[in-house]
Amino acid sequence: MIRLGILGSGNGSNFQAILKAIDAGDLKAEIALVLSDNPDARILTRARDRGIPAQVIDCGGYKSKFPLESQQWTAQQLRQAGAELICLAGFMRLVRHPLLEAFPSRILNLHPSLLPNFPGLDAWQQALDAGVEETGCTVHLVDAGMDTGPILAQRKVAIESDDTADSLLTRIHAAEHELYPQAIAEYANSLGNMD
Ligand code: GAR
Repeated sequence: MIRLGILGSGNGSNFQAILKAIDAGDLKAEIALVLSDNPDARILTRARDRGIPAQVIDCGGYKSKFPLESQQWTAQQLRQAGAELICLAGFMRLVRHPLLEAFPSRILNLHPSLLPNFPGLDAWQQALDAGVEETGCTVHLVDAGMDTGPILAQRKVAIESDDTADSLLTRIHAAEHELYPQAIAEYANSLGNMD
């Protein structure tokens, strides 16, 4: 049973999908801690409703920067909670050292495109603007770049001619909710096999 630490900035629908997979027995894990850089994030209330410890990361008033001290604090909280694998679930700040050093090859991210295409913000809108026929979602290991780490799993989503940003995003989310818990389970298994 691997202990997960979850970082999110917003709605937390992928966090909910992870919980669902744990409840169903498809993901042998427990959630040690949920952290958010946004005090109003729904992911925090979703966690607290389930009795899961949830705390706010103080980013010192910076809008998008993840200050060194905040990362140190985050690493410390995750370690104290006994987290073994960190899952970014809609966490919108760039994770760098020292968090990467605290959990080497143990931080996963979910991104709403088929990386390496369309890294960065509003990836589904980037795909629409580029006029491609398909996009999707990616689970990858986090490195010091933006959406650049080794890819673990992907799911394709076809783009229909009448798609709007909302309709496309809804289908990408549905794909993410299936893909992320599966990819976490597979990666956790592979870690277990390496121990
Ligand atoms: C997801 O679509 C995820 O791929 C994206 O944020 C959303 C979070 O939704 N992550 C990124 O864009 C990271 N670069 P949720 O809060 O409902 O899980």
